Amino acid sequence: MAEQQQELFSTVDRTGTNSLKWARYPPGTIPMWVADMDLAVPSAISEAVQQRAKHPVFGYTVFPFSLKRAICDWAQRRHNWHVEPQWLSFAPGVVPAFNVAIHALTQPGDKVAVLVPLYYPMCWAVSENGRRLLRSPLIERQVPSGNVGETMLSYEIDFVDLEKKLADPKCRLLLLSSPHNPTGRVWRRQELEALAALCAKYNITVVSDEIHWDLVLPHTDHAHIPFASLSRDAAMRTLTCTAPSKTFNISGLGFSYLVAENPTILAKWNAMASQVGIFPGPPFGMVATEAAYTQCAPWVDQLRQHIQGNFDVVCAALRAAGLWDLVRPARSEAMFLMWLDCRQLVASRQLKALCDRRDMTVTDPDHNEGYLAGWLAEAARVGMSDGCEFGVQGEGFLRMNLGCARETVVEAMRCIVEALTKPVAPK
Ligand SMILES: Cc1ncc(COP(=O)(O)O)c(C=O)c1O
Repeated sequence: MAEQQQELFSTVDRTGTNSLKWARYPPGTIPMWVADMDLAVPSAISEAVQQRAKHPVFGYTVFPFSLKRAICDWAQRRHNWHVEPQWLSFAPGVVPAFNVAIHALTQPGDKVAVLVPLYYPMCWAVSENGRRLLRSPLIERQVPSGNVGETMLSYEIDFVDLEKKLADPKCRLLLLSSPHNPTGRVWRRQELEALAALCAKYNITVVSDEIHWDLVLPHTDHAHIPFASLSRDAAMRTLTCTAPSKTFNISGLGFSYLVAENPTILAKWNAMASQVGIFPGPPFGMVATEAAYTQCAPWVDQLRQHIQGNFDVVCAALRAAGLWDLVRPARSEAMFLMWLDCRQLVASRQLKALCDRRDMTVTDPDHNEGYLAGWLAEAARVGMSDGCEFGVQGEGFLRMNLGCARETVVEAMRCIVEALTKPVAPK
């Protein structure tokens, strides 16, 4: 099993593919930032795409019933959620889907509640579209890591604060990330039910981004629960946006979908989508998704094991080097993205001041990645996402992408440990 996994999830050279992830840093830096994986898709997906490519016409394509059926079956089998084909619509990505949703379901000047820290395009979707953000900070808790005397960070919803935000008469919508990016939390049924009760009380519509839903880590005791599957009331107030893109590493194929049982919500979304020109679907993305959902469930389970193994490697390396207190992983329950609390490291080395003095900048001039990720890229040659991109609550954190071969994680940790155990000499 372990050998088979190593073979399936071995290193893939992405040279020559114009990979965004690999374009950001100079050669020699291991990129572990944007959320795609350096892993090959399952062979059934490659074969389906290659088969479709044999036909010489790649024109406008409808959302076929067979694919809608495959999505409904996936939702039922993997998430215990009953979805009907007529509740579905296509979007070229989850980010476009929730941007359209903001326009379709709120008015300029309305307020939208979010739980922060948060995947930044969700905040932008609100603030860049003339709506106002109501940020409800998650509560941080230190919880036992499983190793005697050692703790990890975990996050909880501050329901008292959130209720104040949802009670604002201008608040119309909750934009939820579930599982939560960047913290890796899988919301428990009790938490989701409490959220649903507040949304019912204040008549709030929910747009639930569940793009990471398939990748709950095997060590987690709790399954992902689609928000819309909680109750009839939750179903009728929710637009769910999800995709096969993270699960099967097919982000470049431009296929995602949304689910709304409430025909008014779906009609509003569809009307706004057609107004902004979202119309037919991408042939390769659709073919890939149908192959994925009908043939690749066992691959997903092996991937989850592989990602869990990568998380374990990071934890073991930090422990072995005595760095746990400086770089403390949050308890990851889902996704291939690990949230690392580096606030002690920043404080102990006065990293911010050091970086300011050296005027450390990143190689990509269009992207200010933050001093911590910038420092790490220079000092360790590992390029992560800086926590400050996820809001002030992410200041002093790093987000590490573990969607890669085991050997890449081992090498990245070797570089990180070497950089962090070397004394920093101020200039
Ligand atoms: C929570 C979340 N939503 C959406 C996306 C991106 O979605 P898409 O590429 O389908 O627009 C990501 C990518 O990392 C994500 O983490």
